[in-house]
Amino acid sequence: MHQLTVADLNPAVLNVQYAVRGELAIKAEDLRNKLEAGHDLPFKRVINSNIGNPQQKGLDQPPITFTRQVAALMEYPPLIDLVKDKWPSDVIERAQELQKEIGSIGAYSHSKGVPLIRKHVAQFIEERDGYSSDPEDIFLTGGASAGVSLLLNVLITPHKTGILIPIPQYPLYTATLAQFNGIPLPYHLSEPQGWSTSLHEIEDAIAQGKKDGIAPRALVIINPGNPTGSLLDLETMESVVRLCEKHSLILLADEVYQSNLHSPDTHPFFSFKYVVRKLDSPVGLVSFHSISKGIKGECGRRGGYFECTNFREDVRALLYKMVSVGLCPPLSGQIGVDSMVRPPQPGSPSYALWKEETDTIHGALAQRTKIMTDRLNALPGVSCVQSPGALYLYPRLELPADAVAAARKLGKEPDALYAMELLDETGICVVPGSGFGQKEGEAHYRLTCLCPGVEEYVVALEEFHKKFLAKYSSA
Ligand SMILES: Cc1ncc(COP(=O)(O)O)c(C=O)c1O
Repeated sequence: MHQLTVADLNPAVLNVQYAVRGELAIKAEDLRNKLEAGHDLPFKRVINSNIGNPQQKGLDQPPITFTRQVAALMEYPPLIDLVKDKWPSDVIERAQELQKEIGSIGAYSHSKGVPLIRKHVAQFIEERDGYSSDPEDIFLTGGASAGVSLLLNVLITPHKTGILIPIPQYPLYTATLAQFNGIPLPYHLSEPQGWSTSLHEIEDAIAQGKKDGIAPRALVIINPGNPTGSLLDLETMESVVRLCEKHSLILLADEVYQSNLHSPDTHPFFSFKYVVRKLDSPVGLVSFHSISKGIKGECGRRGGYFECTNFREDVRALLYKMVSVGLCPPLSGQIGVDSMVRPPQPGSPSYALWKEETDTIHGALAQRTKIMTDRLNALPGVSCVQSPGALYLYPRLELPADAVAAARKLGKEPDALYAMELLDETGICVVPGSGFGQKEGEAHYRLTCLCPGVEEYVVALEEFHKKFLAKYSSA
């Protein structure tokens, strides 16, 4: 009998790459196991700065109490009798309201998600943007990734479909395009302008695609950005919408970091839904959101939603057909979405604690982001854009020629060599820039701003960097 080999598998799957959980993440796991087994390593703990997973062991962002209390009562309804005099009354009322609508969370729900929760999502969007939202345009998903995957799957046809993606990008996009045989049309973000989105770059990518016989179908914008932490201004967003009108592009707006803002007064977030409605634009828009980021950080619960705007009824029906094949998104994730879009309000019994918890998370993130940016910028051969949003920094490295040569000799990208040595010597796991895409000859890495004890590990980063430069600088 012929035993299945990799060569027998779908070749599209073999092309999928996902650096965030790649070689370095595997090695970090190995080092953690070694530390636990008592091995003597040059560091005491492994710091997972490679993935935006706030509640991960070692990062330990505490879950929001309100979210978890509602979730607990949904998991085990008899708990209500035990806690009804102890837990805030708004938690009990919320759980009872959801239980009445949903029944057991062990049952499948509507394939687009529980109708009442979709109604709440639509209300959240209306309050955020000041424009109407139809619950029928809302699809709850098992995280934003599931929504992105579905949309790319339905948009990509066998006729050389091009999807415009930012470089650097979150590798979900290149990975999913590889899976569905879509063709990435990369456009570069401008690092000297704070990783801004340039209309010229997008136009150039469209022109290049057309020259190569590739029909541009959709434009992906990640705002706030991953890995760059950048935030779009209104003027750029309006130009992006006009560009989509001009080229009949579907706009895929990945807005999962919309509540991770470090200085919201000076750098506010605007959704593309708001801009499309404000301009009264006919552009087809899909906006993605998630419970994985923001102050919730409930990545493992797998909850999110997408809203389609200006979609014809028959296209929406096709999306409904496709989500029906997967039956329904996880109920625990849907309940997480409900808590995200309906947090406790001033005056309600849970509000004070909710406010304290969320302020602490926002404050810590903003503080770590600032400390790390300042310290990175003070290092020789490092420059790092100040980030107004998301969870990441994306410093640029000027690496010595000897380091580049040493990396090439090993068949590695220079920033991958840097990241590997950083992990080996300090236990800090980051993702090399080559995993997100960058201009030829450049070197970057992405690190998250989620790890407590920043003072301690920033010192380790600094010492490592200086040693690395010394090691690879020819005398
Ligand atoms: C830009 C971006 N989009 C989508 C996702 C996926 O989020 P989810 O956990 O909701 O699938 C991530 C996760 O890091 C992300 O950074």
